[in-house]
Amino acid sequence: MKFFIDTANLDQIREAQSMGILDGVTTNPSLMAKEGIKGHDAIIEHYKTICSIVDGDVSAEVFATDFDGMIKEGEELAALDSQIVVKLPCTKDGIKAVKYFSAKGIKTNCTLVFTVGQALLAAKAGATYVSPFVGRLDDIASDGIDLVAHIVEVFERYGYATQVLAASIRHTQHIIQCLDAGADVATCPLKAIEGLLNHPLTDKGLATFVADSQKMI
Ligand code: G3P
Repeated sequence: MKFFIDTANLDQIREAQSMGILDGVTTNPSLMAKEGIKGHDAIIEHYKTICSIVDGDVSAEVFATDFDGMIKEGEELAALDSQIVVKLPCTKDGIKAVKYFSAKGIKTNCTLVFTVGQALLAAKAGATYVSPFVGRLDDIASDGIDLVAHIVEVFERYGYATQVLAASIRHTQHIIQCLDAGADVATCPLKAIEGLLNHPLTDKGLATFVADSQKMI
């Protein structure tokens, strides 16, 4: 399973990249706004900087919600770097835009997916990635991981090449559940990734090894 970091924060992206485990980045307008980025040029520069930090795919979401607007923005974003994946909402115009870009060989991430039917349309339109939102389904007492597993099963059964990118990951246990569900990618906050390291027996064992190594110096 690939690991993407779900943030527009450059320090966090650098930190995850320095661990050597990062396969890519996903952003969205909320994550970009959180970094205080303002204006067209600053947005473009920010995506270029992210691409210079990481080696893998970088999802950049369009702001437009109409087909023509999505195409205009998506084409500008895709031209920035071959790492850019145009992120489009799972609406009728969004699906048309996924089809448009996939026909041109431009990578897409179809976002805001909450049902297997939405995922099916994204796959049929040729999306590179489909993003089911795990945490937001959990928030409304639905089961986000069940949706990931259902999409994985359907895509395998029918041979769709679209990768299942589990998004809205909120904590470390979600990552483990994504592994079990067969997700191709989990895009996670840095804290959830770092949480995979935590075990009291690791800390305790290391403390003993450090103490014993001191006896030999
Ligand atoms: O990738 C989508 C993600 O950023 C949404 O996460 O926590 O706002 O539901 P959240």
